[in-house]
Amino acid sequence: MAPSRSALFSLLLSALPLVSAQECTLQFDGRTPDDFAAADFDANNNIFSPDNVFGQGLSFGQLIKLPNAGLSIFDDGTAPFEVTISDDSIFPLPRQRANGLPPRRAHPGLQLRHRPSTTGVKTLHFSLMKDAARPLNLSHEYQLVFLESNDFSTNQVVLKTGTILGGNTADPDTLQLFGNVNQGNLLFSTAFTAGVFHNFGVLLDFNALLLLHRLRPLEEQTDAIANDVSGQGQFHFGVLKKPTDSAGDITKDGFQEAGIDEGIIFGGIFQEDSSDGCISLSL
Ligand SMILES: *[C@@H]1O[C@H](CO)[C@@H](O)[C@H](O)[C@H]1NC(C)=O
Repeated sequence: MAPSRSALFSLLLSALPLVSAQECTLQFDGRTPDDFAAADFDANNNIFSPDNVFGQGLSFGQLIKLPNAGLSIFDDGTAPFEVTISDDSIFPLPRQRANGLPPRRAHPGLQLRHRPSTTGVKTLHFSLMKDAARPLNLSHEYQLVFLESNDFSTNQVVLKTGTILGGNTADPDTLQLFGNVNQGNLLFSTAFTAGVFHNFGVLLDFNALLLLHRLRPLEEQTDAIANDVSGQGQFHFGVLKKPTDSAGDITKDGFQEAGIDEGIIFGGIFQEDSSDGCISLSL
């Protein structure tokens, strides 16, 4: 049973002294060294799994770009990378689907699996930026960061942009953080300003949720919000493009335009243990 919102809020505020330096225990770290080449994503490394969700015949090295976009507030000696999608970014693979039209998607999987990252009290950090050379088509819905439950039945938390399929999106050029999609609550939204990193810290106490988002350094944006984050699963960072005009099952119907070259730049991906109250606001 979820505690009331106000109880959570006071609990969190009294229990969590925010720290400005990065002194918290890391749970996982998705920051790649600044001398990492795109091809290094294809080799076994301790950061991202080289075989994860992308189109048949593609390798991660082919869809990762290394833009000259500067650093996120949580990169130092590490560098952002871009995840791109093209007409070949088709997943599920043909053999895994009955028919129809899968979403266009590419997202590296963090190799560290994952149970401990979905228990206790953790803060998920990530930064993301638009690439002016590879704009998204905001007529579509995109999922950029999400926690997908072990049984694939839900996303417990998901950052979207664009026109939410079946939704009512006033301004699609907005970063929209939703809680568990079974409830469909919009927890936070902010204009997806071009040319800057948007730095997020999402406190997941696996009953509640507190969002930190600011350009520099992080600032608290919401109280704790009750949200169902049960079901464990895996964190994804990348680009999942849904079709337009889908009646419901996006793997079976809808429209995907051809000739796409789209991407999102990611930096500063890591998760820290906040059970002792530690949340990093900047490096
Ligand atoms: C955006 O997507 C819609 C739906 O797929 C498509 O009809 C339109 O041509 C696209 N616009 C651009 C600028 O690519």
